[in-house]
Amino acid sequence: MRPHVTISYAQTLDGRLATRTGSSQWISGPESLRFAHELRARHDAIMVGIGTVLADDPRLTVRLAPGRDPLRVVLDSTLRIPPEAAVLRDGAAHGTVVACVAGVAPARRAALEALGATVLALPPRPEGGVDLAALMAALYRRGVASLMVEGGARVITALLRARLADRLAVCVAPKILGEGINAIGDLGITRLADAHMLNDVTVTLCGADVIVQGRLDVGE
Ligand SMILES: NC(=O)c1ccc[n+]([C@@H]2O[C@H](COP(=O)([O-])OP(=O)(O)OC[C@H]3O[C@@H](n4cnc5c(N)ncnc54)[C@H](OP(=O)(O)O)[C@@H]3O)[C@@H](O)[C@H]2O)c1
Repeated sequence: MRPHVTISYAQTLDGRLATRTGSSQWISGPESLRFAHELRARHDAIMVGIGTVLADDPRLTVRLAPGRDPLRVVLDSTLRIPPEAAVLRDGAAHGTVVACVAGVAPARRAALEALGATVLALPPRPEGGVDLAALMAALYRRGVASLMVEGGARVITALLRARLADRLAVCVAPKILGEGINAIGDLGITRLADAHMLNDVTVTLCGADVIVQGRLDVGE
């Protein structure tokens, strides 16, 4: 059993999540940012990778729409998250789960727990990183029925590769960056027939951006 997973991010017309130096705030316009906060409010938890925390220092709260803040989850195998990160500051740590690999950095784990964060230690994987299926099951056991994933690229790619995502909500901004960070990396697909498909697609104009949403034909 696992939560229903929605991947949501903003990309340029040419499929970039950020510039090549990692700058992504903000690819989308204000209307789309409001949409993202409405989506956050509709989920039990929101997850990002440590790369996004280090690059953007997001708060992952609901500020631009009515609704409650979701539980925050950071994928961080070796507990690199700095104690001054916004998801840990000013009491925020009490609503934050840091998912790591079991046995790493006991001192850093204790420091995070002292701030009020929950550290979820999961079995190591041969290929590195947190075991996503084990994490999903652990979150579900903690009452997380719906999980929104906001990025970054490595986390989105890993979830799609593992076929652990149920919905996609992509904001496409009318911008072109050329070289940059691709929203989605290698999925190991060589035949068009193996492409991940969206079903029940809706397309909405949101300010100058286009939001494409749909159900993934994998994961359910
Ligand atoms: N445009 C948007 O909507 C948007 C949204 C979010 C982020 N961004 C941008 O995306 C960039 C960050 O993306 P990123 O790819 O560098 O970092 P990321 O996806 O946020 O985080 C990746 C890191 O998460 C950790 N991780 C742990 N378990 C993992 C697993 N099973 N699968 C994948 N990752 C796992 C790994 O670090 P460890 O090995 O240390 O655990 C990995 O390097 C930034 O430039 C940010 O601005 C853009």
